[in-house]
Amino acid sequence: MQPENHQSQYRRFLGPAVVVGLILLDILVSSRLQPIMSLAPGATRSKTVPVALAAAAVAKDDELLKEAQTLFKPLPQDLATAEFPINSDLVSLGRKLFFDPRISVDGTVSCARCHQPALYGTDGLEKSHGAHDKLLPRNAPTVLNAGMSFRQHWGGEFETVEEQAKRALLGAGFANPDYAAAMARVKAVPGYRELFKKAFPSEPDPVTANNWAKAIGAYERTLMTPSRFDVYLGGNTDALTPTEQHGLRTFINTGCADCHRGAGIGGEQFRKFGVQEDYWNATGSKEIDKGRFELTKDPADQYMFKVAGLRGVEMTPPYFHDGSVGTLSEAVRVMAIVQLGHEMSDQDASAIVAFLKSLTGKLPQDFAIAPVLPSGGFGMPRPVSRAKKLLKETSR
Ligand code: HEC
Ligand code: HEC
Repeated sequence: MQPENHQSQYRRFLGPAVVVGLILLDILVSSRLQPIMSLAPGATRSKTVPVALAAAAVAKDDELLKEAQTLFKPLPQDLATAEFPINSDLVSLGRKLFFDPRISVDGTVSCARCHQPALYGTDGLEKSHGAHDKLLPRNAPTVLNAGMSFRQHWGGEFETVEEQAKRALLGAGFANPDYAAAMARVKAVPGYRELFKKAFPSEPDPVTANNWAKAIGAYERTLMTPSRFDVYLGGNTDALTPTEQHGLRTFINTGCADCHRGAGIGGEQFRKFGVQEDYWNATGSKEIDKGRFELTKDPADQYMFKVAGLRGVEMTPPYFHDGSVGTLSEAVRVMAIVQLGHEMSDQDASAIVAFLKSLTGKLPQDFAIAPVLPSGGFGMPRPVSRAKKLLKETSR
């Protein structure tokens, strides 16, 4: 058969088929909408069908909004509490300390090295590099909205952002031998004495590790990124596109919101990573991290991790505690299979990704712009790293 003949035959068949199809569709639609139409007396049929469809769609939108409002909460403006108040002197000092590399043992590592504004508060690496370029065991989560979480770090090692900031002075990031050595580095920058005095006016000797932590914590408690999703939760359904709303529906119906809920869309509990199967089969993780077990040694804590908060998640690849997954759509599929035993279709995964992108808010002004730091701080001892020593030995 010639190709043209084939085509014209096809068309001849298609014409009547379309007509029959349209008639069937018409019957279907009008019978379904009969009860709704009867509520609109006097309206002609051709007008009521679109109106009724629109009304049904609005009802569906409202239902989704109500459900979302029970599962999620809008972000608060800041995270000040009675125990951890914030004021402009504290926040301004904390902001400077956050960006200052001179407090680390080799003078290269500030909080901002691993929590970079340009990378939405992360370092974009699978695992972070600390002082002397030492590889850390886990991936750096964003500091944006981090204070929302009920604990800090993937295994919930710390209770508050303050406790986290204090311990960071001695961790592999800053690598100070003790708090006194760390505070000596702060004191070596003359301008800080004045700034600590302003932030802690009632204390005679305010340059302490606790106050370092309080100042940085206060700053972190201001780093919020409200997004269109918060406008939506406030009652404006137009703030999310129909595609994003469909993604939200899919997120809820698939079971993601069983764990990822609240204002942080997560960060409220520990859950096993690998409910249905070992996570490393899906992520290809090279090392097996046992999560909270590494801290508590309690067998019940094996593979328990903090449920990640998903605010701004679009901007913070690579994903998971070891940065083993590079894209958001892959991370969504991994979650579906590993946590819910659900092989997710392309459509569902991309709908969820569309919803997750609505969780990206603007960078706080105070974070996007780096502060100018007080000058000084030189002449402090800087221990030579093993790598540098090696280099010297081999070049000799
Ligand atoms: C060398 C890189 C590095 C430096 C420097 C660093 N961090 Fe982190 N940060 C990380 C990594 C990696 C994690 C995850 C650690 C874990 O869970 O075991 C983390 C976790 C956090 C968390 C917890 C977030 C969450 O969602 O659980 C906060 C908050 C944080 N860092 C703030 C800071 C502050 C404040 C400083 C400076 C005092 C700092 N970090 C310095 C790499 C770094
Ligand atoms: C049983 C609880 C649970 C369910 C259900 C669940 N998650 Fe998670 N989710 C977690 C935990 C725990 C982590 C942290 C895993 C890790 O890296 O150690 C996480 C991490 C993530 C991450 C990576 C975040 C990051 O910053 O690296 C994404 C994205 C995510 N989940 C999306 C989803 C989606 C989408 C669904 C539904 C298909 C879902 N989750 C279902 C518990 C859950």
